[in-house]
Amino acid sequence: MAKMEIKLVDSPVLRQVAEPVTKVTKRTIKLLRDMEETMYAAEGIGLAAPQVGVSQRLIVVDIGEGPLHLINPEILSREGSQVDVEGCLSIPDVWGYVDRSERIVVSALDLHGKPTRIEANGLLARALQHEIDHLDGVLFIDKMLEMPPTESTE
Ligand code: NI
Repeated sequence: MAKMEIKLVDSPVLRQVAEPVTKVTKRTIKLLRDMEETMYAAEGIGLAAPQVGVSQRLIVVDIGEGPLHLINPEILSREGSQVDVEGCLSIPDVWGYVDRSERIVVSALDLHGKPTRIEANGLLARALQHEIDHLDGVLFIDKMLEMPPTESTE
C-alpha cells in the first residue's frame, strides 16, 4: 500500500461529479487499499477517491469497526435526521454542524466486486453520507448549519 496526497478544498477535482467504476480491476483494489492507508495515516474516518485526485466513485469508511471499501455506493433509502459536528480531511481546521439522515440503506460493490448492501445509522450513516457527497462534488461546508443546535452540555 502507499499513502497518497490529500487534495485540499481549492482543488477542482473536489467539485467534479465522479465517474462510476465500470470494471473492478486490480488497479481499483490497489487504489482502495491506498485510500485506506491514507485515511488511517490522516486519522480520518472516511475518504473518497476525489480527495486523492481520482474522479471515480470509490469510498473508504472506518468508524472504528474495521474498514469498509465501497465501489459505486448509492443511497437507496433514508429515514430520520441527526445533527452533529463534522470535519473533512480536505478542509483542515474547519468543523461544523450538519443535518444528516439518521438511517440509510446503501448499495455498492465491495472490494471483491460483489454487490453488497449496508444498513447504517448514527455515525456510520453520517460518514457514508459525507463520503458519498464527495462523489457528487459536494462538501460538508456547503451544508453546514449557521448556528449550532441550542442544546449544550457545558
Ligand atoms: Ni470529507
